[in-house]
Amino acid sequence: MNLALFGATGGTGRCILRQSLPNGEHSIKALVRSPGKLQIEDPNLNIIKGNILDREDVHKTISGTEGVLCALGNSGNNPNNLHTKGSQHLISSMKDLNVDRVVILTSMGLGSSRNQIPWYGRWFTNLFLQDLMADKRRQEELIEESKLGWTIIRPGGLIDGENTGEVYKGTDSDIMAGPIARSEVARFMLDTVTSNSFLHEKPVITTKKRFDMRSMYSQIKQLFERIRTK
Ligand SMILES: NC(=O)c1ccc[n+]([C@@H]2O[C@H](COP(=O)([O-])OP(=O)(O)OC[C@H]3O[C@@H](n4cnc5c(N)ncnc54)[C@H](OP(=O)(O)O)[C@@H]3O)[C@@H](O)[C@H]2O)c1
Repeated sequence: MNLALFGATGGTGRCILRQSLPNGEHSIKALVRSPGKLQIEDPNLNIIKGNILDREDVHKTISGTEGVLCALGNSGNNPNNLHTKGSQHLISSMKDLNVDRVVILTSMGLGSSRNQIPWYGRWFTNLFLQDLMADKRRQEELIEESKLGWTIIRPGGLIDGENTGEVYKGTDSDIMAGPIARSEVARFMLDTVTSNSFLHEKPVITTKKRFDMRSMYSQIKQLFERIRTK
């Protein structure tokens, strides 16, 4: 399948590339701000240098594709409404180009999944991530209202490396957030965009494991990195 990817230089985006390029599973057009970060040469990868905040760049990236994957994150040098603005550009470009299928990565803790993160997670996001969560909430609303073939995937706490527990993917509202490997999230995004599974749904992906020291440390490190690059 020909796919457009946003967030290719990020943790999850890189996993998407690693999983789909070597076996020729998909052709990918990736919009990146800094092509030098990728260092990948593959006949099935077309890198577009640009910014999701620029409507023309987004249009160019989606043109000629059949589905869109968005693993965007507010990784610095961006306004607080990155996800809102980026989603407006995705939606209007997809409509102009008659591309219907889109899979967006947001977060557990949003909307109906608010009670699926533990109290200390809610406390933490209220204290440090209020702007980011408000932007992602608006992103979800725009996507839901878009009338496109959307799926919103809400992951638990993202970690690098291997998973350490049984993975849950679905819409059960009793499942609590735990750590989940980015590689697992990437696989889920690819499987979802190439099928009609979870169409117009907001599945979560997580393990049922509690956060251990390693995943806590990884989360806190990412948070401080985000604050530092703001
Ligand atoms: N960390 C967690 O535990 C956690 C939990 C739940 C959900 N999430 C969410 O999951 C998503 C993916 O997280 P991640 O850690 O895999 O991603 P990440 O490493 O933060 O990567 C973010 C990606 O977005 C790109 N990007 C940022 N601004 C852009 C712009 N203006 N134009 C184009 N591209 C832009 C970045 O490009 P550059 O390389 O140019 O910066 C990078 O490729 C994020 O939305 C995150 O908030 C995270």
